[in-house]
Amino acid sequence: MRVLLVCLGNICRSPMAEAVLRAKLRTRGLEGWTVDSAGTSGHHAGQRADPRTVAVLRAVGIPCDVVSRPVVAEDFERFDAVLAMDQSNLAALVRVCPPVHRSKLALALAPLGGDDVPDPYYGGPDGFEQVYGLLDRALDAWLERWTA
Ligand code: 4NP
Repeated sequence: MRVLLVCLGNICRSPMAEAVLRAKLRTRGLEGWTVDSAGTSGHHAGQRADPRTVAVLRAVGIPCDVVSRPVVAEDFERFDAVLAMDQSNLAALVRVCPPVHRSKLALALAPLGGDDVPDPYYGGPDGFEQVYGLLDRALDAWLERWTA
């Protein structure tokens, strides 16, 4: 499987999702998967993940070395699943995704009912904890689907 996690800036939510999914794959001994993340905006391209994302991950022993990059056209070819953190990012992906790859797009929280992963950027550290909890559960559910 090749999985791309997408949010707006690729500095808060999708780097966390990438790091958590990598950790789950390591734990399960699933080698050979491709996991990456990207932003629908290129505003933070080249930046490391937000320190609040890194702190939440560090507290649970998960490393994060993501450098922000924007979504590019080839991503829709390269990946089998492209998971958007919220409806706004999904809409941005739908606008640029070739119709033949449309079925690869989904909301990250689809297995939990399809709510948005709330944007934690302008909030406090508890928002980042909440994002971690949501992604941890949703990615377990995605892994069950992908490995069934
Ligand atoms: P992310 O969070 O999409 O989860 O990386 C954000 C990062 C930056 C901004 C908004 C959300 N921003 O407005 O700069």
